[in-house]
Amino acid sequence: MNISVIGLGKLGLCTAACFAAAGHAVIGYDLNEDFRRELKSRRCPIDETGLVDLLEAAWPSLQIVDSYEDAVFRSDVTLIIVPTPSMADGRFSDEYVIKVLEGLAPAVSGKDSFHLVDVVSTVMPGSSDGVFRPLLERLTGKRCGMDFGLAYNPEFIALGSVIRNFLHPDMVLIGASDERTGAMLTELYRSTCKTDPTMAVMSLVNAEITKISLNCYVTMKISYANALAAICEEVPGADVDLVTAAIGADSRVGSKYLKGGLGFGGPCFPRDNIAFQAFAGEFGAEAVLGKAVVAINNAVPKRLHERIAAHAAPPARVALLGGSYKADTHIIEESQSIMLARSLAGAGYRVALHDPKAIDAARQVLGESVAYHFDPYDCIAGASAIALLTDWPAYRELDWRRIAASAAPRAVVLDSWRVARGVEMSAFTYIPVGVGITAKGN
Ligand SMILES: NC(=O)c1ccc[n+]([C@@H]2O[C@H](COP(=O)([O-])OP(=O)(O)OC[C@H]3O[C@@H](n4cnc5c(N)ncnc54)[C@H](O)[C@@H]3O)[C@@H](O)[C@H]2O)c1
Repeated sequence: MNISVIGLGKLGLCTAACFAAAGHAVIGYDLNEDFRRELKSRRCPIDETGLVDLLEAAWPSLQIVDSYEDAVFRSDVTLIIVPTPSMADGRFSDEYVIKVLEGLAPAVSGKDSFHLVDVVSTVMPGSSDGVFRPLLERLTGKRCGMDFGLAYNPEFIALGSVIRNFLHPDMVLIGASDERTGAMLTELYRSTCKTDPTMAVMSLVNAEITKISLNCYVTMKISYANALAAICEEVPGADVDLVTAAIGADSRVGSKYLKGGLGFGGPCFPRDNIAFQAFAGEFGAEAVLGKAVVAINNAVPKRLHERIAAHAAPPARVALLGGSYKADTHIIEESQSIMLARSLAGAGYRVALHDPKAIDAARQVLGESVAYHFDPYDCIAGASAIALLTDWPAYRELDWRRIAASAAPRAVVLDSWRVARGVEMSAFTYIPVGVGITAKGN
């Protein structure tokens, strides 16, 4: 199938590369001229695991063009993957998607054959039928579902594993204006995914509701585990890992995203929750669970701050290990580590931050309030408190004997993911998050 992808950012470029590497002819367009220039020279402007290698396989089938017109005329399906930033009321803005639809419309209008317009960007429920369909019909003079198709086909990917998630989904969500549109996208994904996913083909509005509901459900599991961790921490002998492992073994629950630790962050989960609440409110309903999920999430960095304050007073040095919102990415959007860094620096602590990838991004938002380190041991030297935050694999290999020699005596170690459990930690005041310490030190 010939595909065009409009918006070649963090998700769009990976999507284009996955389809091209699977043998589809892909035409890419991005508003950003620098991006287009880089891509035309076969250079990858996005940092994402496996993308450079995948593009090597994709280049022969991937062509970058300079206009919407070219993109539409040379393809059967156009995927729109542009930003939908959150507005002050929590709803997603359709502004960028609308600009693209306006740009595509003349070419869709001028085409003799059926063209499928597929919105992948996350949008508010009601956008497709309420805004996109009438806009396209008005601008093209054509009928949706007959002369052109409209789809809402969002992705469920996490940064750092975009390609793996894209190629190995459990489910592909396809909201379609008509049967032909649903069948075309089903065929496209069947010929690209390496798994045999459930094809959830449904109406546009149901797909829109499904997208944010699924993300809200996942964050509910994360907050459930974090609420459990906060309780276990207060109960001598309690261990959140034992409890969640058993709960997760029950197939009604499942083990994914059920681990007490840091709260969720990143460009999707937090804002999807807020958008879901705004959506419910619009229809006179209240997303009670969603509010609790957000409250539990916000409490996590506050609790870490309190734990540190109980053991070390400002201006003590506090070493924070990990700044990105999750491992394998430099993205710090809504990162709980960054929130903690900000609150500690604001309280007068001398904050030192280490991250394998996110130092530049962290510096942009935290400025000179924090000291930055490319070596975790430099970061920790002289620290009275050490917080293990992002779950980077390298932190599992730290040499705690070496750290004991350079950190302040009996430094407190807050271990969000229990990576140092089982290691000799008697030189420290060791606090594994979610574990109730007994008189013997557990
Ligand atoms: N990144 C994720 O983890 C993720 C996951 C699921 C869903 N999404 C959704 O996908 C959408 C895109 O996210 P992203 O992270 O890829 O954003 P991004 O900012 O990384 O990329 C967006 C790209 O769109 C381009 N663009 C903007 N306006 C354009 C226009 N009019 N014509 C052509 N190109 C244009 C920008 O130049 C940019 O390169 C958002 O709605 C987001 O919510 C993202």
